[in-house]
Amino acid sequence: MSTKQFPKDFLWGGAIAANQAEGAWNVGGKGPSIADVCRGGIISGVADKEIDPNLFYPSHDAIDFYHRYKEDVEMFAEMGFSLFRTSIAWSRIFPKGDELEPNEEGLQFYDNLFDELLKNNIKPMVTISHYETPLHLATEYGGWENEKLIEFFSRFCEVIFTRYKDKVKYWMTFNEINNMHKIPFATGAARIEEGPDKLQRVYQASHNLFVANAHAVRLGKEIMPENQVGCMLSLSAFYPNTCHPDDVFEAYEFRRKSLFFSDVMLRGEYPAFSKRIFEEANITLDIRSGELDLIREHTCAFLAFSYYLSTTYKAGMPVYATTGGARGIDNPYLEKSSYGWAIDAKGLRYVCNELYDRYQKPLFIVENGFGDVDEISPDGKIHDQYRIDYVKKHLIELQEAITDGCEVLGYAYWGPIDIVSAGSGEMRKRYGFIYVDRDNEGNGTSNRMKKDSFYWYKNVISTNGAALFEEE
Ligand code: BG6
Repeated sequence: MSTKQFPKDFLWGGAIAANQAEGAWNVGGKGPSIADVCRGGIISGVADKEIDPNLFYPSHDAIDFYHRYKEDVEMFAEMGFSLFRTSIAWSRIFPKGDELEPNEEGLQFYDNLFDELLKNNIKPMVTISHYETPLHLATEYGGWENEKLIEFFSRFCEVIFTRYKDKVKYWMTFNEINNMHKIPFATGAARIEEGPDKLQRVYQASHNLFVANAHAVRLGKEIMPENQVGCMLSLSAFYPNTCHPDDVFEAYEFRRKSLFFSDVMLRGEYPAFSKRIFEEANITLDIRSGELDLIREHTCAFLAFSYYLSTTYKAGMPVYATTGGARGIDNPYLEKSSYGWAIDAKGLRYVCNELYDRYQKPLFIVENGFGDVDEISPDGKIHDQYRIDYVKKHLIELQEAITDGCEVLGYAYWGPIDIVSAGSGEMRKRYGFIYVDRDNEGNGTSNRMKKDSFYWYKNVISTNGAALFEEE
């Protein structure tokens, strides 16, 4: 391979999550999920105890992908996608989460969607749980703090692996599992507030997730040995603010608290540094018999991650969380989007190398993208050169990472069609190559329109990335 190429079988495409796109929140037997009680975003908004019919919940209609997926898949195919990542809404299959029998209508929907993708030569990739645990499991069981969820999740996996094993090759267990620290409600359906027992609760819920992850890998090997089950983390880049050794070491320690999750799921054991964390925070995990063996024996096949930005860390500072990754302080060398997300393409190369050096397992970029406000120009079109610039720079650096020796299976752009923002619940923050006529309050036709970036990405894919390196 010459230095400026992507591998021949590199997968190009896009990624969404069911709760941010499908809508039809109570159609076809679907039960409510934790996303369905959130207003203003599942990350920073209000999570009601139950749905108030007088209030507006963005996920209830989203962009109506549930009914319009054929039209959307056609446009993904026109762009030349070979990969499309979505999640299976758990509460479409098990409306409350703890039933013994699945909801056939929900299963049929994903059969139809996957068939439509395959007909268009697009490989479906599935996130099994993407911030959308059935609400009942949160309210009645306390979410992933309760070990019972392991059984419910395993049943869900067994059903969908059996049903879709011939249609879906790539699977991921929990979206951005390392966000258990920052956003435990979204990640673990657990309402864990700040307090002296926070870490104990976060790590116990994480342990339950690790056991569930290992069961998913085990079931995957049994039911569909040809397919792969990976893990998925939020891994935007994290730098020390200065070369002061305290900044350097504390940034390293902070990063390790994220890599802790991939360490367990890829290496099969709790990393050595976790012993000290647990001791100092008085954490005692309830580890049931056989669980550590299970985790050791069933590790993930690949590491998928989201990458949006980088941030810098100064010793002792509090780090706040949004989607996109942990946020410390501004890096003076980088520009930001209007949402304050630092644009750092080289950070993607850095992270790929960091992760491949650590694990030597295939990597998958399953989220990267530019979310901002789009204006319709007087000619009726959207000229989103800023999005093209962002993706171009990131893909060029991704190619560099591949040349560095990182094994990268594919690139799924986040939000190839405008969807509801997970962070803020807005439609106004748009990532799409395809525009959706819908505003924050749910007004609009929901009609789709191609932006300039649509044609640009299509050209990149059709040349397997070569167009990125052509002189303008
Ligand atoms: C990731 C999530 O953290 O960031 C997605 O997995 C989310 O669900 C994406 O949409 C972008 O964040 P936001 O807040 O801009 O939607």
